[in-house]
Amino acid sequence: MCGIVGFIGAEEAAPILLDGLARLEYRGYDSAGLAVYSPEDGLKVVKAKGRLRVLSDIVEGGKSIRGAVGLGHTRWATHGEPSDVNAHPHVGMSGRVAVVHNGIIENFAQIKEFLESKGVRFVSQTDTEVVAQLLEYYYRGDIMEAVTKVLHRIEGAYALGILCADCPDQLIAARKDSPLILGCGDGFSFLASDVTAFLKYTREVCYLEDGEIAVLTREGIQVYSHPYLQPVEKERHHVDWEVSAAEKGGYEHFMAKEIMEQPKAFRDTVFPRIQNGRVALEELRLSASYLREIDKIYIIACGSSYHVGMVAKYILEKLLRKPVEVTLASEFRYCDPLVTHRTLCLVISQSGETIDTLAALREAKRLGGRILSIVNVVGSSIARESDDVLYTWAGPEIAVATTKAYSTQLAVIYLIALRFAELLDTIGAVEYAALVEELLTLPSKMERVLENREAIQYYASIYFNHESIFFIGRNIDYAIGLEGSLKLKEISYIHSEAYAAGELKHGTISLIQPGTLVVALASCVPLFDKLVSNVVEVKSRGADVLGLTVESRGEIFQKTVDHVITVPDTHPMLLPSLDVIPMQLFAYYVALMRGCDIDKPRNLAKSVTVE
Ligand code: M6R
Repeated sequence: MCGIVGFIGAEEAAPILLDGLARLEYRGYDSAGLAVYSPEDGLKVVKAKGRLRVLSDIVEGGKSIRGAVGLGHTRWATHGEPSDVNAHPHVGMSGRVAVVHNGIIENFAQIKEFLESKGVRFVSQTDTEVVAQLLEYYYRGDIMEAVTKVLHRIEGAYALGILCADCPDQLIAARKDSPLILGCGDGFSFLASDVTAFLKYTREVCYLEDGEIAVLTREGIQVYSHPYLQPVEKERHHVDWEVSAAEKGGYEHFMAKEIMEQPKAFRDTVFPRIQNGRVALEELRLSASYLREIDKIYIIACGSSYHVGMVAKYILEKLLRKPVEVTLASEFRYCDPLVTHRTLCLVISQSGETIDTLAALREAKRLGGRILSIVNVVGSSIARESDDVLYTWAGPEIAVATTKAYSTQLAVIYLIALRFAELLDTIGAVEYAALVEELLTLPSKMERVLENREAIQYYASIYFNHESIFFIGRNIDYAIGLEGSLKLKEISYIHSEAYAAGELKHGTISLIQPGTLVVALASCVPLFDKLVSNVVEVKSRGADVLGLTVESRGEIFQKTVDHVITVPDTHPMLLPSLDVIPMQLFAYYVALMRGCDIDKPRNLAKSVTVE
């Protein structure tokens, strides 16, 4: 979704803002803009539809727009088509106040009508312009007073950056339900949607909470509560991420780099949490007696994180013997969920800012559930609002299509399953030890799967022209099929569906015809023969079949399918970590051969911060 960056310091702002916006490109956008102030030129705004490069060319890489304070924005259109005029920043009628915004102002139509009745003329179709116009309407020489009045009036979700030409020695930031992070430097300050925008300059950050307003100056940042403007003492945090972690490092795409980083990300997430052969989750405060009391685990997430939840259901139910329900966060809020104080809600999110997941978390909490979240971005909203957090140590994930975050989320599921099973005494010592031992071998097995990537590239070269692809599997293989199918469609734009293989006969098999590609996942050994029967069914209707199974079944599977990809054998519960890699690579190479914009697929945003 939209990317925001603001800078105030001693250097020229525009090149810094453009660099920050480039680092936020991954969020998805369709236009971009800058507002910069200098005493000589006043408040200058430049906006352009299309890629950031278009804006950068107009302002000559930032050289033609002078000033040491400014705001930048990449817009992901919601209200009004992508265009120069709808791009942010937006200014009020007198050109005194510039605003950048991420989120949705839900009551913008009423405010617009009110302002128009007062003679205000609007130039864009956006909801954001009402904020700029309303600020000027309320402005009587005290910008903070105007800001508080505006925040009182607007409804919805927002992260706002505000620059007023009458007080150019400060930037103002405010948030509600949209991410905004503040960067504290020596002689400069930043605001941004994401720390990667300014990581090059500072690692010292503060997290703005809902209902807070920040005033950024060259000397520092002061935060106030809304509406009474009481000063708030903010804790500073140090961000450990390396700048290079958010760069391509020689790879053509972030997605390729992140796929290759999975063994390391898995190691970083798991190894420090295994001590003397036991899973140690020191961050968790859940006791054995609490776990015995809970009658249900509710898993809440969106997209790929939801697919991790689908895998988790199989693992947790098997090891804990407790019912697990997996639900899409966007549905949870509206389904009158059965959550009580005996429900443990497992909330999964890479970004920690997905608005549907955050809203579902709040609803689950309101109903009395206890929240344990699995999050990648430290200090994100979901992490802050959870009762307990287990971080995935994947590092920054930039490609829209998640890969390493997915793998580390799975890793945390294994850790939770083992630790809870130990506390509940639902696992025998032998199985526990075997699982821990196997967990430690997974990164090197993942490396072996990655070494086989040329074979997967070859299969992608055979099948990249297909317009419809089906993924079938049973049990955990079905959950991996869901993820394989999502990866493929989001970056290659091929229509694809994942089916529980046993369901095919209940309808979908009518779509199978000569030349249809079916990706058959058969790594779940106890169900191998059943899956082979399903493959025979689709083959006899003319389908091409690309199979995936474990090495020990590779030869036999080869007799039924057209091509087979194998992964090393491991404990059945841990197979998803190996199976998912060929699915990611297949999607990646297919998209590459189709010439798609892999890191920034059309219509998609990395972090979905509007409902
Ligand atoms: O940041 P989150 O994990 O909450 O994001 C959830 C989904 O938006 C995300 O997994 C999405 O489906 C990815 N683009 C999948 O690759």
